[in-house]
Amino acid sequence: MTHPHFWWQTGVIYQIYPRSFLDSNGDGVGDLAGITSKLDYVRWLGVDAIWLSPIYPSPMADFGYDITNYTDVHPLFGTLEDLDTLLQQAHQHDLKVILDFVPNHTSDEHPWFQQSRSSRTNEKRDWYLWRDPASDGGPPNNWMSRFGGSAWQFDEPTGQYYLHMYDVKQPDLNWRNPRVRQEMYNVMRFWLERGVDGFRIDALEVLLKDEQFRDNPMNPEWKPGDPPNTRLIEHYIVDQPGMHGIMQQMRTLAENYGQRVLIGELYLPVERLMPYYGEQLDEIHLPFNFQFVNLPTWEVRTIRQAVDGYEAALPKGAWPNWVLGNHDRSRIATRVGREQARLTQMLLLTLRGTPTCYYGEELGMQDLALPREVMQDPLAKKHPEYSRDPVRSPMQWDGSANAGFSPAGVKPWLPVANDYQTFNVAAEQQDPRSFLMLTRALLAIRRSHDALTLGSYQSVEQESATCFVYQRQHHDQRHLVLLNFSAQDQVVTLAGQGQGHIVLSTYMDRGGSLDLSAVHLRGNEGLLIDAGVPSS
Ligand code: NOJ
Repeated sequence: MTHPHFWWQTGVIYQIYPRSFLDSNGDGVGDLAGITSKLDYVRWLGVDAIWLSPIYPSPMADFGYDITNYTDVHPLFGTLEDLDTLLQQAHQHDLKVILDFVPNHTSDEHPWFQQSRSSRTNEKRDWYLWRDPASDGGPPNNWMSRFGGSAWQFDEPTGQYYLHMYDVKQPDLNWRNPRVRQEMYNVMRFWLERGVDGFRIDALEVLLKDEQFRDNPMNPEWKPGDPPNTRLIEHYIVDQPGMHGIMQQMRTLAENYGQRVLIGELYLPVERLMPYYGEQLDEIHLPFNFQFVNLPTWEVRTIRQAVDGYEAALPKGAWPNWVLGNHDRSRIATRVGREQARLTQMLLLTLRGTPTCYYGEELGMQDLALPREVMQDPLAKKHPEYSRDPVRSPMQWDGSANAGFSPAGVKPWLPVANDYQTFNVAAEQQDPRSFLMLTRALLAIRRSHDALTLGSYQSVEQESATCFVYQRQHHDQRHLVLLNFSAQDQVVTLAGQGQGHIVLSTYMDRGGSLDLSAVHLRGNEGLLIDAGVPSS
């Protein structure tokens, strides 16, 4: 199969949370050498790129999203040489490597912030967002941190507040300062020169803030129980004018190095997401499409609307992408249950566009049940109900102690899930119908069929309210995807379409031809059907 497309369009991205992938040196925390030792597995699975959550020096107030040095590696994870080895070996395995780039904030222990906070006249004062107290001595405005409480922290020595959209130990940089931009672009160059294939850009939607620091409006829809920071609408923080110039600069910079990719973490509604592709498709290659992690209800009507609406909204030539989970959101097998998770895996891997798979989701891993006392996430300090620890538990490699993540006798930084004896790589590799083997089969089928990697997408109207049916087509190749999102049997009718051939059932127990005028699906069954040359 020849691809006129770029690797980030035809490929599949696998997100690795380095702390939790493989602990090679027995300190309870995953590391780069651990990842390198598992590249064979990643390649065997059949993905094309790995995205690593931050590996930089950090006091770990937000597990690496609080950086003290953008151009080095935290000793917990290894050394720069270990990263070079990982890059080199990944490339030998035909795998791309994407790093997390965190431009919105540093650690408060970063030398830049240390200088910035040292005096009002320090040359780096303006690298961060400092403001005088309000007339009553309180915070300069009503902005709230996404981790709870005010987004402003008073700093005694210089009598001003600094802004932090996340933890108090994550002061926001001032992206209106050209020197900050230059410095951060140099960081991008540093890694691109070392050979990384792109960046996932953190917290992109809040990079610029309102120049006048106006109060945010109250959210009329907020109700008790909703996340406290959603009490206000982040009107003057999110998606501010001026963003697109910065995105264009980043894109130009990245493309000076050839086929590199920029993926933007942008929690925005579809109509506000699309402009991040750029008017000339000259900004973010893949603005993350988080609809599946944000849908208000998980039912066929909303899922189909989300897909059709997104497809219709895409600017001409813009490449779609899909995400089911990440290190911040509940795992899909917990949200929808393990039976239906097989179906959602088929959904993710047969839609048009680049899928990102979160580590462990290929096994059907679920959220870890964790008592408050052992929670580590800074978000859990104020709001244990929003702790992200449950989705960051150690990867389950085998049935041995610590699931093979850490050597026996070592205490991993987070406990291993209780069900690891059943759900682990080694066990699932032995079971031809396991979750893992389903994922691997889907990845292999996707790779070898242009209709699935490059083909058009069209949903097909169905009488059954619980079945989502769509077609993927490329020239004379046509595939149908039939997904039954209910626990009951259903019949899908595709009148006038003749015979089809089952490529894969999510149950992995049937093949052969069938009559498309009435296709019987079992509860939570997904079918991938080769429907041959279209009749008209
Ligand atoms: C988004 C990241 O995904 C999340 O893990 C982190 O806490 C915040 N950005 C702050 O960097």
